[in-house]
Amino acid sequence: LREHEEFTKVKNIATIELGKYEIETWYFSPFPPEYNDCTKLFFCEFCLNFMKRKEQLQRHMKKCDLKHPPGDEIYRHKTWSMFELAHDVSQPYVDGKKNKIYGQNLCYLAKLFLDHKTLYYDVDLFLFYVLCECDDRGCHMVGYFSKEKQSEESYNLACILTLPPYQRKGYGKFLIAFSYELSKKEAKVGTPERPLSDLGLLSYRGYWTRVLLDILKKHKGNISIKELSDMTAIKAEDILATLQSLELIQYRKGQHVICADPKVLDRHLKAAGGGGLNIEVSKLIWTPYK
Ligand code: ACO
Ligand code: ZN
Repeated sequence: LREHEEFTKVKNIATIELGKYEIETWYFSPFPPEYNDCTKLFFCEFCLNFMKRKEQLQRHMKKCDLKHPPGDEIYRHKTWSMFELAHDVSQPYVDGKKNKIYGQNLCYLAKLFLDHKTLYYDVDLFLFYVLCECDDRGCHMVGYFSKEKQSEESYNLACILTLPPYQRKGYGKFLIAFSYELSKKEAKVGTPERPLSDLGLLSYRGYWTRVLLDILKKHKGNISIKELSDMTAIKAEDILATLQSLELIQYRKGQHVICADPKVLDRHLKAAGGGGLNIEVSKLIWTPYK
């Protein structure tokens, strides 16, 4: 019901300012009522606090002491860093309260570009992974994904967003790949929370296709869906659906069998395009959340 209500609401905020970008929004986002009269909001790119007027933001920037998202840096390679945010007030080394406000601000911001998702304001249940491009002025958010701390359905990603100025540069695939690297470290298979948006589905299909084709191309001899799943942390159902859409599956004696004809693989690989930004796995310093 809540989701339906949000679906039918008209877009309120038309543009936002964030760092050096002015960005047109896509969808409604339920900002607090005092922002009802605004069509433009000004975000601090570091703490994600939002304001009604440019002058307020300018005053804020003079005293805001954040230069990166408030969390642990768990990955750094070249100019890219990933920060993990938990809002656990019981953990003394993170400022749970500060992080919580950041998480809420991030949800408000993300909803401007996510149509089909109900926003969960209970940010305590989620971890946030914020990807930044860093320079001498600070770490600038490129995109993020959220992940439930505990998932019964083996979801390894709840919401994913690349900010519009950074889209179509491979960051989406990077974020997806990152979510599977975390799953590998947890020794679990994962899958994104459904439903997926059109762009989300395209990105996931692209990622799954690329990863599976690369393995099939290198692998000699037979391989099962279970083995592929163990190697990639991709859930068996997603592997099956991907390989079926590539027509690499046959059904024999009541079983799905992978038929990876090298010519067919090459044709698909050519069509699959570039892999985008690669994760330098050795630079990921992370232990699973408990
Ligand atoms: N038109 C056509 N294809 C596209 C487009 C587009 N505008 N954008 C992405 N794609 C496809 C392409 O196949 C692309 O691969 P290619 O460049 O090799 O052809 C693939 O998606 C991934 O592209 P990336 O550059 O890696 O992804 P990007 O950084 O643009 O992020 C994302 C993708 C996160 C889905 C982005 O479009 C976005 O933030 N959208 C708004 C929010 C959203 O819909 N999130 C997913 C919701 S589902 C969920 O959260 C579980
Ligand atoms: Zn700030």
